[in-house]
Amino acid sequence: MDGNGRWAAARDLPRTDGHTEGEENLARLVRIAVQRDISHLTVFGFSTENWRRPRPEVRHILGLHEKLFGRVAELNELDVRIQWIGRPFDSREARTPKYVQRAIRKAIADTAHNTGMTLTVAFDYGGRAELVQAVEEARRSPTGITPDSISEHLYLPDLPPVAVLVRTSGERRVSNFLLWQSAGAALHFTETPWPDFGAAELDAALALVPARSV
Ligand code: FPP
Repeated sequence: MDGNGRWAAARDLPRTDGHTEGEENLARLVRIAVQRDISHLTVFGFSTENWRRPRPEVRHILGLHEKLFGRVAELNELDVRIQWIGRPFDSREARTPKYVQRAIRKAIADTAHNTGMTLTVAFDYGGRAELVQAVEEARRSPTGITPDSISEHLYLPDLPPVAVLVRTSGERRVSNFLLWQSAGAALHFTETPWPDFGAAELDAALALVPARSV
């Protein structure tokens, strides 16, 4: 969800206002994705690298995650199940604060019964960290390191392969997002900053998927 900062700068607003608008837009986009009958939507909310940002900005983004995971009534109304992907809370490198952990756990439990779209939020997530853990665990498994055993030891083994990967705000490169799961994904690059990414943009991305597999 790139471009929150640039969206704010273009309006002479602080970067944090861009993130606030980014969270609002995610809530809007989830509604549209449900209307499009998408089965899985995964968003990059906070990376393992994002901890290096200025503290007030990090605090603000953490608060927005607490807000997003608190939208349980809306998610239930839409029949959306929420999941989280990231460094396991008990791992040595994990940095997710307790209050965000609590919000994540509660949202997962309170939407677990929903059978519509699955919304997965990547928080304290890095594709390389995920692969290192998966390979270490695969090595200790009976079959050793194989594509299947790596897949089985990803953070969320049931997450389907990515059908279309979207990058907003003019970034035309792959980031540290779902590296293993994105093999073979279509790519949708757009100049639109995340807070302005709406229905028309989503439809353009979906048009890249041959037979609907999202
Ligand atoms: C990227 O824009 C955004 C982030 C790193 C922050 C996370 C996203 C949000 C707050 C949107 C809401 C989502 C959730 C899950 C609460 P940027 O800061 O890199 O903007 P720039 O590229 O213009 O500098």
